[in-house]
Order: sequence, then C-alpha cells, then structure tokens
Amino acid sequence: SLVYLNGQLTPLSDAKISVLDRGFIFGDGVYEVIPMYHRQLFRADQHFARLFRSMRAISLLNPHAKEEWMELVRNVTGAHASDQQLVYIQVTRGVAKRGHAFPEASYPTVFIMTNPLVTPSEDVRAQGVACVSMEDSRWLHCDIKSISLLGNVLAAQYAAEHDAVETIQFRDGFLTEGASSNVWVVRHGRLMAPPKDKHILEGIRYGLIEELCAACGIMLEVRHIARAEVFHAEEILITSAGKEILPVASIDGHPVGSGKPGPVFQRLYAAYQQAKP
Ligand code: PDD
Repeated sequence: SLVYLNGQLTPLSDAKISVLDRGFIFGDGVYEVIPMYHRQLFRADQHFARLFRSMRAISLLNPHAKEEWMELVRNVTGAHASDQQLVYIQVTRGVAKRGHAFPEASYPTVFIMTNPLVTPSEDVRAQGVACVSMEDSRWLHCDIKSISLLGNVLAAQYAAEHDAVETIQFRDGFLTEGASSNVWVVRHGRLMAPPKDKHILEGIRYGLIEELCAACGIMLEVRHIARAEVFHAEEILITSAGKEILPVASIDGHPVGSGKPGPVFQRLYAAYQQAKP
C-alpha cells in the first residue's frame, strides 16, 4: 500500500526515516486524522485548520499551503481502493543532532498514510460500549494534537485490559475526555460537554455536534462536569473520527441510564449520518 513520505509516494515497506528524527527521539510533532466517505474528506477545512493550529502551537513551520496538503492527501487516498478511508497525517520537526531545544536548521518530516475506515457495526451501536474511568495523567496542552501520546496510550491500554472500548478520564474530579475521543453526557434531557480548553482536544466532531444540536433542537450546555454527574448520566456518548458517535452502555461496570442507547444518541447519530458526504 502506498504512503507519502517527504515528497514521494512509496510502498509502506520502503518508507523509512532517520532514527534521529525528532518525532522518534522526542515525540516532537503533531498529527491529524481525517475520515473520508465516498472519496470525499469529511470536514476537511476544519481538520486542516486544526493541523495548522497544532503546528503553530509548537512553532513548527507549516511546509505546505492548504491546497498542497489537499493534493498530497488526494494522491495517497487515490492510490487506495476503499471509498471509505481514515487518513493519517504526521508532521515532525525533522532530523537533527539530538538536543532538546529546536535545531537551528531542520526540515519537517511529512508522512501521510490511509487505511480503510471501518465504522462501528450496527450491533455495537445497538448494544452500546463498555467504558472504564481513570484519573487524567496527561500534560496541560491537550488542545494540541501532539504525537506525544504516552498518557493516551496508557489510558487506552487500561481500557483494553478491562475489556472496555474507551477510558473516560477525570482531572481533579471533573470530566476531560477519552483516550482518543471526546465525551458527552446527557442529564435532564440536555447534552453537556466540558469546555474547549487546554484539558481536552477540540475534536472536529465537537464542533459538528454543536451544529447538530442547534439543528435538532437539543439543548447543549458547555461547562465543567463533576464525576458524580457522569456516573448518574441518562446517556454518555463518545465521538471521534473513526468511531463517529457511540453510546456508552456502562462505565466501570455500572450501567449508564437504562443501559441501552438513549434518544439523544439516536437523534444525533441519525443527524451525523445525514451530515456525511
Ligand atoms: N483521535 N480527544 C482525543 C484525545 C483524540 O485523540 C481524539 C481523536 C478526539 C476526537 O477528535 P476528532 O473528533 O477530531 O476525531 C478527542 C484520533 C481519531 C486519533 O488519535 O486516532
């Protein structure tokens, strides 16, 4: 399968970078994950805007104009058979002699790959998914889509070891987000989400859900959400590029609401499907 690396389309097995790449040595880079349906990127503008924000946040010079980025992605997705793909873009600060501070001269490493996008099955959506919870141990710049993901990796592994699909994290008693998803809570029929601040990544689905709520007449309340409110929620939802919207059936073994996907999930899921290309 073909991938893009530093100016060239190459088979994945030929795509090689230096061991001195700052992505490898320091996790010094950012990434983006974009879903494609019917060969069209979903919310491309928002994804590229976030990629550019992430680069700016770490003072990494953006090596391409937006149109060039779109062209590079098209070249990769065009070489793959699937109509529905999940595109991965990574940019690092490039190769340099090891030293923590930015090197004087380095050229960013750009890597793009794609895989078939397999959305959750109807069965999974009908049952809802099991989640577990843990304290958020990540740094305080979670708004940057950094490739330094050790905290997220450990949270995801915790879920895997407990036969759960996602770990819902709390910082000092308040909801932040999943290991790789945003988390939504329904209380008294209204949807709640934690504020977009440094404690969470602003998912592209965060903005989409805001729009869908407005269109569907679902009240959305953005505020800090205490742990007890999550555990007494009528519904909990998780969102990400790959998972779309999923209902949470249980958290730490406690059923969420009725233990079945609720009405807010059903409405938002239907609206999400409508919004896709
Ligand atoms: N993860 N929060 C975190 C920590 C994430 O890693 C993600 C996405 C999200 C949801 O963002 P979006 O709606 O833009 O997918 C929230 C991607 C899919 C990943 O790391 O693979």
